[in-house]
Parts: sequence; C-alpha cells; structure tokens
Amino acid sequence: MSKVVPVIAIDGPSGSGKGTIAHRVAASLGWHLLDSGALYRLLALAAGRHGIALDDAAELAELAARLDVRFDSDANGGDRVWLDGEPVSGELRTEEAGKGASTVAALQPVRDALLGLQRGFRKPPGLVADGRDMGTHVFPDAALKVFLTASAGERARRRHKQLNDKGIDVSLAALSRDIEDRDRRDSERSVAPLRPAEDARILDSSGKSIEAVLNTVLNWVKELQG
Ligand code: DC
Repeated sequence: MSKVVPVIAIDGPSGSGKGTIAHRVAASLGWHLLDSGALYRLLALAAGRHGIALDDAAELAELAARLDVRFDSDANGGDRVWLDGEPVSGELRTEEAGKGASTVAALQPVRDALLGLQRGFRKPPGLVADGRDMGTHVFPDAALKVFLTASAGERARRRHKQLNDKGIDVSLAALSRDIEDRDRRDSERSVAPLRPAEDARILDSSGKSIEAVLNTVLNWVKELQG
C-alpha cells in the first residue's frame, strides 16, 4: 500500500452486511472506522430537531457544516453516537432515520457539506469506510474497494431478524417494500448514485456467513499488503 493513509472502501445497498463487515475488518486491522450512513442519519435527525424540512437543501447544508457529532464505544465495545452531546445511537438505527437519511442524501449541497467531515476520518494507521459512495466519490484513491451486495429478499430477511432480535415487530413485506424503495432512491438519484466503482471488487454475500465474507475481504487486504 502507498505511503498515504490507506483506505478500504466498503459500499453497497442497505442490508448487504457492509456495516458488520466494515466493523470486523477495522477491528481486525486495528484501523479507524467511518460509518458514513450514520452521518446522513444524524443530519436527518438533527433536521427534525431544528424543524428543518428534509428537502430544504440550503438549510440542511448549513446544518451539516456545523453538525456536532461524536462516535465512541461503551464499556462492552458497543458503538455509541452523540449528537450535540446527547446519546442518539438507538434513534439513529430506526427505519424512520434511514428513510430520512436517504432523502437528505439525495441533495448535492448536503453531500458537499459532509465531504470534509468524512475525509477527516482518514487517520493513521488506516481507515475502513462504509457507505454508498466511499469508493466512487469520497475516497476515489482507496487501496481496496469492495462492493458488497445481497439479493433484496435476503437483505429484507436479515433486517427483519435484526429488528426482531431487538424486540421490534415489523412485517417482512413492509420491510421488503422499504428496502426496494430505498434501493431505488439511492441508485436512481442523479447525485452520487449507488453503484460500484469501476475498480471495485464485487462480493455477493447471499447465502454466505459473515465469517466467509470477512475472510474474503481480509484475503484481499493481505494480497495488497503482500
Ligand atoms: O448505510 P445506512 O443505511 O446507514 O445509510 C442510510 C442512508 O444514507 C442510505 O439510504 C443512503 C444514504 N447514504 C448515502 O447516500 N451515502 C453514504 N455514503 C452513506 C449513506
């Protein structure tokens, strides 16, 4: 890998498992982690709190530029996210925050305003960045670009199980519809649409265990380091 701080970009649609894989890769390498989706979710949440409409590009961009966010872990190593000094991790993972994030993420001024914040996560010894446009826009010089996919059905089932495990009762059909809507919004938008970078390695996680996917990515990292 080159002398600049190396980045591993992991992009893909919601439910593809990229959050889990990005976490595990970062932990295994001892690198920093950027969950870029959390920034869009935080912005949607902050907008709600400040009474800013989710289509008001100028106000949202201004809010994004002064977003007071902090990421850390609790005593058990669980992720914590803070907005204006308040813990918001639970609120951030709701379907509503996800929908809000996908709406504000379609606005170019918002994406521009969040670019510097995202690039600021690139610190030694390296960064694993998870999102939709990590390899295409935010870190086009990433040492490794992975585009993680899974069939829409499998992504809906995984999300359903995750929510069920948390005691949240949602119908699988409603979740499938949400996932399809979100996919459509994220991949059909004119600004930074969800698509693999030309030099990305495509990895379909359908029917594969987390360990199997993780091993594939770590082997790719080893190839680069070798
Ligand atoms: O990864 P996630 O589900 O937390 O992302 C929430 C939304 O934010 C997703 O629907 C699209 C948007 N997003 C984006 O446009 N670009 C990113 N780099 C990350 C997320």
